Amino acid sequence: MRGRFITLEGIDGAGKSTHLEWLARFLEARGIRVTRTREPGGTAVGERLRELMLHSGAAFHPETETLLMFAARREHIDKVIEPALASGAWVVCDRFTDATFAYQAAGSGVSWAKIEQLERWVQDGLEPHVTVLFDVSPGVGLSRAARGKRPDRFEREQLAFYERARQAYLERAHAAPHRVHVVDASRPLGDIHKTLEVIFSTFCANADYSRS
Ligand code: TYD
Repeated sequence: MRGRFITLEGIDGAGKSTHLEWLARFLEARGIRVTRTREPGGTAVGERLRELMLHSGAAFHPETETLLMFAARREHIDKVIEPALASGAWVVCDRFTDATFAYQAAGSGVSWAKIEQLERWVQDGLEPHVTVLFDVSPGVGLSRAARGKRPDRFEREQLAFYERARQAYLERAHAAPHRVHVVDASRPLGDIHKTLEVIFSTFCANADYSRS
């Protein structure tokens, strides 16, 4: 029985990392084997590309950056995501291709159509079964992201960049309502977890149903 592929998205400071851990434990408590991973990253090469893109200070052409994101993604699919799904584990991934549309297309001006081409080429039909978009205004997100962390190069960009990224995320959600759940991430943690509980109780029940 193949596993399920879940992705968490949102602009910086939306709280994905905290919610990812909560969700992974929620699923594990239901007897599901969970692989936690992230993008860019998730493999040895992917983590090196992450460091290069986010923390080396190098400035890339936005299309170079897009290609590097997809190069990391190709490795990630091959080495981590596909093997985990094939073994029956559920993959919970902090960011995936929606982030490339948000950051590289809407944020940095790379053609949406070129990213769609790369998506088809690299993913070859692989799509998350469910995505949670933690939606928050850039002002709230950035003030949270700044707390006690080394800002990455995207976090140092302007509010306008994040507003464009947020709108692109919402557009992707609107275009794929069967896949993407938009969660208001400005609410208290407990409220957000209640919402996640509803989404994933239903999702797990349907997954069980398809097993029989
Ligand atoms: P993030 O997921 O926020 O991790 P952390 O919690 O450590 O800050 O950081 C990843 C950064 O990479 C984020 O600024 C968005 C960026 N990114 C892209 O620009 N395009 C992509 O396709 C992906 C996956 C991430």
